[in-house]
Amino acid sequence: MYTFTNRFISNEENLKFAQENMMGPNAMRIAEEMALYLDIRDNMRILDLGCGAGLSTLFLVEKYSVNVFAADLWIPPTENYERFQSVGIDDKAVPVSVDATKGLPFAHEYFDILFSVDSYHYFGDTPEMLPSLIPFVKKGGYIAISIPGLKYEFGENVPDEMKPFWNEPEVARTIRSLDFWRELWSREKGIEVVDIREMLCCKQAWDEWLDGYHPGLPYANEIAEGIKMMEAEGGKYFNLIQLIAKVI
Ligand SMILES: C[S@@+](CC[C@H](N)C(=O)[O-])C[C@H]1O[C@@H](n2cnc3c(N)ncnc32)[C@H](O)[C@@H]1O
Repeated sequence: MYTFTNRFISNEENLKFAQENMMGPNAMRIAEEMALYLDIRDNMRILDLGCGAGLSTLFLVEKYSVNVFAADLWIPPTENYERFQSVGIDDKAVPVSVDATKGLPFAHEYFDILFSVDSYHYFGDTPEMLPSLIPFVKKGGYIAISIPGLKYEFGENVPDEMKPFWNEPEVARTIRSLDFWRELWSREKGIEVVDIREMLCCKQAWDEWLDGYHPGLPYANEIAEGIKMMEAEGGKYFNLIQLIAKVI
């Protein structure tokens, strides 16, 4: 199922590259699972929204030979350009600085697929966001999102062991259940939701991020915090949620 990712990280240098560029659960593995539910063809134009350091972009370009606009808020495009050059995908991957909450700097109906891994929950929880993105995808194209989520809504009843990690309003706002996202997306008229599911790679993708802990890694502090959080969570509450909608 994850032949690309398994092969990629079986090489020591690639594994080091992946670990240095993981900003959360292994984005390459998550991208590979989500891609199984999409008909991705050569030379399609894909927006990788919230691409971070571009592990999902690398996967899309290498596996499918598509053209990817690698758009992100926190990672400067020059950094991604240098990284894409270092792995030889800069002819197919265009790094762009984008804040999805401010409107996308692209033509309408430009993309075959809007693809997003571990990013949409930061900005997609309002009723306005999905309708603001739909015009940029061709009719008949797809919006495919995977995000960390909860097996059920905590609401006011945050489990005791999770309370230390639920100390910021940002966490409660962004980490939501599949039912929350289903309700939000099912209101939208410009799309037909074709798939909502919990992803199979959740534990593996988290383990691959956290097991790679090394004090020298760019996101070492986040990993250290993630290790404590996942130990407390113990497989009881978290999932990864995949949402795929066809633009109609
Ligand atoms: C946890 S990181 C994940 C990055 C990458 N997708 C991955 O999985 O490794 C979340 C990403 O969401 C992006 N992001 C957050 N808010 C955003 C916004 N308003 N517009 C675009 N990207 C955003 C950040 O720039 C960041 O790279």
